[in-house]
Amino acid sequence: MDKTRTFSIITYGCQMNVADSEMIAGVLVKLGFSQIADFKKADLVLVNTCAVRVKPEEKVYGRMSALQHLKEKNPLVLIGLCGCLAQKEREKIVERAPFVDLVFGPQSIGELPELIAAAERSVNHKRAQMKRLKPNQKLKSRLRGAALMGNFENTGDTLPEKDVSRESDFKAYVTVMRGCDNFCSYCVVPYTRGREKSRPFETIVGEVEELVAAGYREITLLGQNVNSYNGGHGKAFPDLLRRLDRIDGKFYIRFMTSHPKDLSDDLIDAMATCPHVAPHAHLPVQSGSTDVLKAMNRRYSREHYLSLVDKMRSRIPHITLTTDIIAGFPGESDADFEDTLSLLEKVRFDSAFLFFYSEREGTAALALPGSLPVEVRLKRLDRLIEEQMRITFDVNRSMVGEIHEGIIEGFSPKNKKEFTVRTFDNHVVIVKAPDGGEPLKFGDFITMKITEGFNFVLKGEITSDFQGRSNAKLIMRP
Ligand code: 5AD
Ligand code: SF4
Repeated sequence: MDKTRTFSIITYGCQMNVADSEMIAGVLVKLGFSQIADFKKADLVLVNTCAVRVKPEEKVYGRMSALQHLKEKNPLVLIGLCGCLAQKEREKIVERAPFVDLVFGPQSIGELPELIAAAERSVNHKRAQMKRLKPNQKLKSRLRGAALMGNFENTGDTLPEKDVSRESDFKAYVTVMRGCDNFCSYCVVPYTRGREKSRPFETIVGEVEELVAAGYREITLLGQNVNSYNGGHGKAFPDLLRRLDRIDGKFYIRFMTSHPKDLSDDLIDAMATCPHVAPHAHLPVQSGSTDVLKAMNRRYSREHYLSLVDKMRSRIPHITLTTDIIAGFPGESDADFEDTLSLLEKVRFDSAFLFFYSEREGTAALALPGSLPVEVRLKRLDRLIEEQMRITFDVNRSMVGEIHEGIIEGFSPKNKKEFTVRTFDNHVVIVKAPDGGEPLKFGDFITMKITEGFNFVLKGEITSDFQGRSNAKLIMRP
């Protein structure tokens, strides 16, 4: 009898990659594979790669020796690389890792059935060859992969949008647009994910309706730049939020990422008036210096960014603001860097993703003068981290006493008697599981009072008597 073939996906990088991995899983399940967590036991191992900065890239290359080891143990295992690094480095990958069987980019997921069929033919061929060998003979091509390539010119028109096998049964990613046309001078994404393409308005509405009806409690709308969403018939992103907000049921809507140059008053209005939409904006600033922003081709100034923050804070009380910042961009002077530090201090983000600049092949920033030594970049990054940790700590401590609503995401990594909860406004709180009563499940909504604020997380206590507290800030869907 034919044993069910298994697959495992190792995912690096952003939420977009997580969503792509769920689509890949959907296609493979349809082909009769079943998903397992332990990649060492799978018949097919796929690594969904990231190329946005040097670190995730190194992590992928770091994994290669483990994958090679797998092939040495079992020459019949199939190994594939996909995602942004696969798109960008296709030939180099096969040179560096000749044991790889499949290489395809994010726009080629629709080609998987043919690629898998070809890969399986190659495995069967290898199996037959190996059977013919005498015990002391070794097959020369044992470790060589099939090196099957997707079509790297594919523009993503054939993506199997409906074949998604979701990891969670209470939180779902829904892609609203793919690709990016912004060409920030440091960024490889426009080259790996291609041109912007929005999914039709009604398709997204239908999908979210189905998810909510199936019990999903948190829907995260994904796009490299959700603000340039164009759903046809003049439907823009705020229209989509307003439409999704009208779906009946208790659920949260989140979205990412917003580009400050396109964040409109209408979007702020939609966020302020739609009760399902979480009061959180991830708004990457990248630098606090207008000159550096210009060199980055971001097309907004420091002042514009600060005015957006003011507008959002005045329309959406208690909004959580998070950001991305790059330290040590080419030409960044000491004064430019001080501008970034002062912006951090002015805005006081709840948290920030901080990076040092890494050169990316093919991007415009490579041609810019004033490249900084890596030590300077790292030193500046350390300063940013130090500054932001202090701010996050202050913000977290200032939340003590507030009452929040959130969704239980899982156990706390340190203690199975505690839950990790994500609040409506996107903070992570650790709460003690109640001793008695109805057991709580992952995906449940709870309310809690914040009792302690630390560097990275908050601690809280589950509470049900939150109503009527005049000094409590209740962040929840009315
Ligand atoms: N170097 C450093 N950081 C980068 N990012 C994107 N490209 C680079 C690069 N070349 C960061 C940006 C972006 C986040 C996803 O990664 O801050 O918002
Ligand atoms: Fe990259 Fe800029 Fe596009 Fe974001 S908006 S994906 S940083 S090019």
